[in-house]
Amino acid sequence: MGISVNRDAPLRLVLDTDPGVDDAVAILMALAAPGVEVVGVTTLGGNVPRARATRNALALLQAAGRSDVPVAAGAARPRTGRFRPSVAFHGPGGLSARLPEPSAAAIGQTAVDFLAETVTSNPGRVTIVALGPLTNLSRLEDRHPGVLPQAAGLVIMGGAVDAPGNVTARAEFNIHSDPVAAAHVLALGHPATLVDLAACRQVGISRQQAAGLSADGPLGQLALRMVQGWFARDARRERFEFYDPLAVALALDPAVATVRRVALTAGTTPGEHWGETTVTSEPGPIALAHQVDAPRFFALLRQLLGWQGL
Ligand code: RIB
Ligand code: CA
Repeated sequence: MGISVNRDAPLRLVLDTDPGVDDAVAILMALAAPGVEVVGVTTLGGNVPRARATRNALALLQAAGRSDVPVAAGAARPRTGRFRPSVAFHGPGGLSARLPEPSAAAIGQTAVDFLAETVTSNPGRVTIVALGPLTNLSRLEDRHPGVLPQAAGLVIMGGAVDAPGNVTARAEFNIHSDPVAAAHVLALGHPATLVDLAACRQVGISRQQAAGLSADGPLGQLALRMVQGWFARDARRERFEFYDPLAVALALDPAVATVRRVALTAGTTPGEHWGETTVTSEPGPIALAHQVDAPRFFALLRQLLGWQGL
């Protein structure tokens, strides 16, 4: 059970993220995973403005003792309109645990140029995990066409396929934040794994379960502080769902879920269909997470974060 560590080469990940409480847990999972190298973190607006997302990524890496991981800042705005931070879920600061201000700064390269350089200098060996809006990936294709296919893989947290959204009745936050970028990336036809809300809703914990957890080691304790802090910030919160952590879990251990192979698009017409993800054909290039092996996912959390009581 859990990830196989006997890889012939490390699994190299770039995490594209808008941290974000669940992003933070996902990043810590990746940092804790044996045989995995987080070669960089690229940031963008979404849950919080870009500057705050970048600060949060730097602060989280510093708290994890991993300020060696480069952080490259990306999009401050979606391809159309502007980002609308999800303060209700993540709070104004974006994290649910107070972290010291980072002493490191983001690198000078933009997220798009960092992604292009990292992927093309390691063709077929870097997996991109997208945990926020798809603006950086869309801009990557604009400015460096042909780079995405050189990635070893692409895992995306986003969408609500045949499932209720979490921003509107039909749309999920990452896609709703920049559906033009999402439609662009999905239309490229590159193979990708998409972890949507229907999958993520299969793995969550209650307030009571979270309160009963303990963690071994600094990364697991920091991740637990994020989840317990999220519950503490609002007494009405009853269930924490592992959105971005499930995307990282699938990058580490594809057996965590079955998939349907579909082609998808994102709604870009203003109105009720804005950001809606719909299947346009089956089969297709997108491996849509379908049935999640929840015990396997939670075993991964125990293995990586040392969480006890799950
Ligand atoms: O809808 C969930 C997604 O939106 C997650 O990536 C969460 O961090 C928010 O960005
Ligand atoms: Ca996110």
